[in-house]
Amino acid sequence: MAKKLCSEDENVLRKKTQKKGEEKIKILGISAAATPKSRSELLLNLLLDEFSKSSGDVKKIFIRDLEISFCDGLRGCEKTGKCKFSDDMRVLEKAILLSDIVAVSAPIYFTSVPAKLKAVVDRCQLYWARKNILGTFSPSPKKGFFISVAGRNPDFSHAEAVIKAFFSVFNIKLVGRFYLPNTDKIRNEQFAKAREDVKKLSHQLGEEGANESNC
Ligand SMILES: Cc1cc2nc3c(=O)[nH]c(=O)nc-3n(C[C@H](O)[C@H](O)[C@H](O)COP(=O)(O)O)c2cc1C
Repeated sequence: MAKKLCSEDENVLRKKTQKKGEEKIKILGISAAATPKSRSELLLNLLLDEFSKSSGDVKKIFIRDLEISFCDGLRGCEKTGKCKFSDDMRVLEKAILLSDIVAVSAPIYFTSVPAKLKAVVDRCQLYWARKNILGTFSPSPKKGFFISVAGRNPDFSHAEAVIKAFFSVFNIKLVGRFYLPNTDKIRNEQFAKAREDVKKLSHQLGEEGANESNC
């Protein structure tokens, strides 16, 4: 039987990676943008930069840089608690477990999140199975934030539903969101306003703070 990963194990992982006297809130930014100049990523960077000025340690993961296999849907993980693929999901898993806040940014592609981010979410079936079938996974509660941008004016709720499902596997509660529509036609001044709005939201994130362990 696989060992149960609970908040205590997370604490051990944190201690190993934490320098003495360093107990800042840890925020992980996950960008699903195509390039560093993508608007969704620019907004995420602003949120993280502003947050790091006042309260926390920031780590960033770019989905475009990860090597991720598609879940084959054969459900072996539901029996073994292991995934047959060995790739960058492990990097992502460790980074999520070491953070207090996880902020994801993604553009809208065909009403939802980009396919590579969806592939990451599908691979979370492993953690879902460990948590809900095998009872071997119980991450400590964390807070989550979602930034999304769209060329036109779509319904952001489809993307939000995917992100909420992703977050729930890791016990991350969506506490804030920022959605910017019409990016294919908005002018620079309008984008400047969005940048200011996101900066303000970063303070709200700080107020939300870190969580108590519940394991
Ligand atoms: C493959 C693809 C699909 C897209 N689908 C939609 C869509 O369904 N609705 C929409 O409003 N915009 C859509 N867009 C436009 C993007 O959401 C928009 O250009 C956004 O600003 C891209 O985000 P980024 O600046 O962070 O790269 C799509 C763009 C691409 C490349």
